[in-house]
Amino acid sequence: MEIRIIGTGSALPARRVTNEDLSHIMDTSDEWIKSRTGIRARHLAVEETTTGLATEAAKKALHQADVQPEELDVIIAATVTADKFLPNLSCEVQSALGAKNAVAFDLNAACSGFLFALDVARRYLEDGTHKKALVIGAETLSKIMDWQDRSTCVLFGDGAGAAVLSACEETGEKRGILSTVQGSDGSRGEVLRCDNRPVSNPYTAKYENTLSYVSMNGQEVYKFAVKTVPEVIKEAVAAAGLTVEEIDHFLLHQANYRIIESVAKRLHQPMEKFPTNLEECGNISAASVPILLDNENNHGMIKKGEKIVLAGFGAGLTWGAAVLVW
Ligand code: ACO
Repeated sequence: MEIRIIGTGSALPARRVTNEDLSHIMDTSDEWIKSRTGIRARHLAVEETTTGLATEAAKKALHQADVQPEELDVIIAATVTADKFLPNLSCEVQSALGAKNAVAFDLNAACSGFLFALDVARRYLEDGTHKKALVIGAETLSKIMDWQDRSTCVLFGDGAGAAVLSACEETGEKRGILSTVQGSDGSRGEVLRCDNRPVSNPYTAKYENTLSYVSMNGQEVYKFAVKTVPEVIKEAVAAAGLTVEEIDHFLLHQANYRIIESVAKRLHQPMEKFPTNLEECGNISAASVPILLDNENNHGMIKKGEKIVLAGFGAGLTWGAAVLVW
């Protein structure tokens, strides 16, 4: 059985906010943000919701795949910013799509979430009991930013990306997902965190709800990323029976241009193989990789038979990579 991505879609909020725009509401500059990260703008939700963006991306992916919502057996949404604690984002999307035959659940692996969800969906399809899956990465990160903290809020954006996976009979062409690798290190979780509500009820010392926002040790995240991402890519590529030289496109989590450059250098691969969209989108956590995949797919940048690496890294700490033949 081959597990192929047969459709992609993405959605961004209408409101585009440039670095220059941000410099009017906080002490920052286009020069500071662009030179350290490569980010020039990001889209921020004003009227949009995580569910709305995820549903729009999913509809586009289903349309491209020529798959009806009722045909979906599995929906997995990777997110850290679902609109509600209950019900989960996947069930909200299921309802909006009318995908009444799907099992739907969420998964949180932060910026690696799409890679983890892709792997879970692949396993559902590989056992032959499920045929079609919808995998989504969707975030409205702007609501968990501390807008007084210029060192974090300028880095992130909102949006959603989706992919439809199908279990296909093997054709001898060797297409679809060849390998997936993930890892986690909870002992280093402090470097990038956002707390949930603390335990609070009439029997605790304090009885109140407090909100927490994203905090990050940027330099530690940078060091983690530039060391771990090349390693996980090499592992996934080897598991696929390929070499990094044979890979046509490396689609990495869009956190920072300098991280991507460093990964390219460590893999001895040219930057032309590493497309980016962080310039316009910023870092959208679990949505970064599927939005970039959709951009490349819809601009005809990836051709049938080409070999692609998808790789994510983020809070947890977590990391993951997948190798596929388009
Ligand atoms: N505008 C202007 N000045 C700023 C801003 C800003 N937006 N943010 C911070 N500064 C200032 C700081 O206050 C500090 O000033 P000081 O020296 O007077 O104290 C100075 O700039 C340097 O701050 P650093 O945090 O040391 O900046 P650094 O050069 O490390 O760059 C960055 C920060 C871009 C976050 C970097 O650490 C990095 O690339 N980290 C990688 C992590 C990353 O990309 N995370 C994204 C999310 S994580 C993920 O997706 C996995």
